[in-house]
Amino acid sequence: MSKRSGPLAPGIAFVTGGARGLGNAIAVSFAKEGARGVVLVDVADEATFQEGKKAVEELGTECLTIHADVTREPDMQRAVSEAVERFSRIDYAANFAGIFGSSDTIADMNLDAWQKTQDVNSTGILIATKYEMRQMMTQSSIDGIEHGRVPQCGSIINCASVNSLQTMSSSAAYTASKHACAGITKVAALEGRAHNIRVNAVSPGFLLTALVKPIEGTDTGRVLWEGFEKRQGRKAVFEEVGDVVVLMSLPRMSLVNGHNLFIDNGFTINEGQF
Ligand SMILES: NC(=O)c1ccc[n+]([C@@H]2O[C@H](COP(=O)([O-])OP(=O)(O)OC[C@H]3O[C@@H](n4cnc5c(N)ncnc54)[C@H](O)[C@@H]3O)[C@@H](O)[C@H]2O)c1
Repeated sequence: MSKRSGPLAPGIAFVTGGARGLGNAIAVSFAKEGARGVVLVDVADEATFQEGKKAVEELGTECLTIHADVTREPDMQRAVSEAVERFSRIDYAANFAGIFGSSDTIADMNLDAWQKTQDVNSTGILIATKYEMRQMMTQSSIDGIEHGRVPQCGSIINCASVNSLQTMSSSAAYTASKHACAGITKVAALEGRAHNIRVNAVSPGFLLTALVKPIEGTDTGRVLWEGFEKRQGRKAVFEEVGDVVVLMSLPRMSLVNGHNLFIDNGFTINEGQF
């Protein structure tokens, strides 16, 4: 029996890549569901940060912006401690900093571009998860109100992609990095459960963010993108990813750990004509 009442997500959200795009949509969804505070961690410029912060504050939620690079351990250590200094804890982490990176074929792969993609999308996920988990290991549950369940000391959601399962030519760097993200998530889930921390991944389908705008900007790219959207059934809005991340972060998802949830309107199961 639950004694729960009040906002869905009353804790503190910490979102990497939170200044814009899907990360910012997640920050906004947490604000909508009553988060006490939201932290946006990004390498964005000041104007982008301010826009992202405004979207959160408009909902009456306190918002802290932190300029930090997920590929740099000292940055992420500092980001977590600044967040904790301000809000005392981190309840929901969402690791959405990411790049598409190299679109080289394997035969023509530029190794610097390959490495940059792995640094942000794979090592960046590892580093963010590392410092978020360390903080969550020191916390007790804010919830502690669900009879018969273990307390929930924190939730981490890592952003993978449909490329963590499927792939196409000229996406080796991105595909490898997203498979790595799914792998890191599984291991973190097993290591986190002894501390009542859940770690899951989500794999969004196709959303027209700044990350993918360059693809859509050419004639060939536009045809490709229309094909993706057709297979996905329709266009998607950022909020549809934000809301799922909030729901997966809630203590009532207590037995959902190490999962990779595809938010793609059936794109990955659609093997028929598209
Ligand atoms: N848009 C899609 O269709 C789609 C689909 C599947 C997965 N994704 C994933 O969603 C996540 C968010 O991407 P988006 O589509 O919103 O694009 P986006 O470019 O709008 O957002 C990415 C954010 O990450 C930040 N970032 C990049 N490198 C960083 C670093 N080293 N340290 C800190 N922040 C950094 C950027 O400044 C930006 O704010 C990415 O992981 C991406 O791979 C996107």
